This record gives sequence, structure tokens and C-alpha cells, in this order.
Amino acid sequence: MEKEKKKAFVTEDILKRDIAYRGMEKIPTEVYDDSKAASVAIANEIAKLIRQKEKEKKNCILGLATGSTPIKVYKELARMHKEEGLSFKNVISFNLDEYYPIDSKALQSYHVYMNTYLFDHIDIPKENINLPDGMAPQNKIEEFCKSYEEKIISLGGIDIQLLGIGRDGHIGFNEPGSSKKSKTRLIHLDKITKIDAGGDFFGIENVPKYALTMGVESILNAKRIFIMAYGESKSRIVKKAIEGPITQEIPSTFLQDHSNTSFYLDRAAADLLVRFQCP
Ligand code: PGA
Repeated sequence: MEKEKKKAFVTEDILKRDIAYRGMEKIPTEVYDDSKAASVAIANEIAKLIRQKEKEKKNCILGLATGSTPIKVYKELARMHKEEGLSFKNVISFNLDEYYPIDSKALQSYHVYMNTYLFDHIDIPKENINLPDGMAPQNKIEEFCKSYEEKIISLGGIDIQLLGIGRDGHIGFNEPGSSKKSKTRLIHLDKITKIDAGGDFFGIENVPKYALTMGVESILNAKRIFIMAYGESKSRIVKKAIEGPITQEIPSTFLQDHSNTSFYLDRAAADLLVRFQCP
């Protein structure tokens, strides 16, 4: 009798904790053993939508991200193209951001990144690829940003948006202080972002001062958002983005207001979430 009582108490306690962490997490969050498993799961979701749209004879509009985080998603999509015949003929892509100024042929440009990790390995028509122009003349930037927004809207909006998260909480290059209403624009890069990019540019002093980025509002207009974070270095900001209050200081917290966003994490990035603080 005594034993049974104890057992019931434990179950109730676990349930209470379960409810507590679920209340803490304001963005649905999937935690995987490693980044490969998370990336394959996202690639499967993307492939499913591309095939569904193909059946419906419609385009699939993808919002793409760069950095180290999405590489394994692109690798899996390229594998699916090669081994399973997944076609990207009906895909139209829009990249989130690009350094400014930067030559599109520079090794560090996101143009080169996208060709290296994805576009050179799939059958997406060249004319369906859209990236912010890091070489746009200064007096044309505003016009460029406006037409980037308009093109996305005219195609019916982004079906799936991929995102990474910066250690300062940025999404795209929407650095702390970016407003929820922000649109595609030129932005000053934060110190922490430049430090993180310093390795690619052989020194922080070589990192471009600016970037062109889709705005927070442009991102929130996407129908489905997958945001990924891997590794212990992201655990602090992941906790703030998922469990913290919404604040302009951490633009990724605005995703809490989006009805169809999921965080995909590896165990290391998820480590500080309340659900893993239970002994
Ligand atoms: P990372 O960058 O994937 O290289 O960590 C993420 C980001 O800044 O969005």
C-alpha cells in the first residue's frame, strides 16, 4: 500500500514537471540525438512539400539560409536528388541575406556558398534562384530591397523558410534591435556576428561592415518555418529564444508569435531548456 502511494506520487510529480516545461517552451521544439538526424528530418519535410506541389503543378517557394547550420540539410537534399530523383524544377528560392559589399564570386559570399552546398548538385533552374545582391550600387539598394519583397509576395509568399540562429539571437541578419515590422534592408553587422564570421574572412577586420537581409516581418510571413541550432555554443540563446520573453533585443523571440514555427535542435543546443533541468 505504502509502495503504491509512493509510485502514484512520483507519476504525478513527473506530470507536473512535464506541464511546466511545456508551458515554458513557447515554440514547438524537436530535440534530436545529433544534427544529422535533425537535418534529415527537415530535408524530408522539404522534399514532401516539393513533391506535393509538383503533383498540384505548382511552384514550391523556399526561403534558404546559409552558415554552418543548414549544410547537412542541403547535403541530404542533394543526395535525394541524386539517388531518389527528387526534382527541384518547380522550386523558386530566396536567400535570406548576403554580406554587403561583397563580390558574388568571393569565397565568403553566400552566392558561392549556395552553389557549393546546394545549387551545383540539383536541377533548380538558374532563373529560379534569388539572392540579395551584395554588389548592388548604393543608390539602388532601396529599390533592390523593395523588389525582392515584391517578388516574394507576387509568387504567393514563402512556403518553407529555413533559419539558423546567431549567438546574439539574430535570424537572417536581423541583429538585436531589429523591429518586428522590419522588411528587406541594409543592416550594420553586430560585433558578435563579425567575430563569428571572422574565421571565414581571415580576420574580423576583413568582415564586411554591412549585410542585406530579409526583415523580421518578411520572415514571419512564411507559411512554415524551421529554425535549427546545433552545439553547446547555441544553448544559451536557444533557451532565451524558446523560453524567454519576446523582445526586440533578441529578434528570434518574435518567432513565438508565428503559428507554424518549429525549432530543431541537437541535444547539446537543447541542454539548458527547463525540460532537461529535471533530474
Ligand atoms: P551558423 O550561423 O549556422 O554559422 O552558426 C547561424 C546564423 O548566424 O544564423
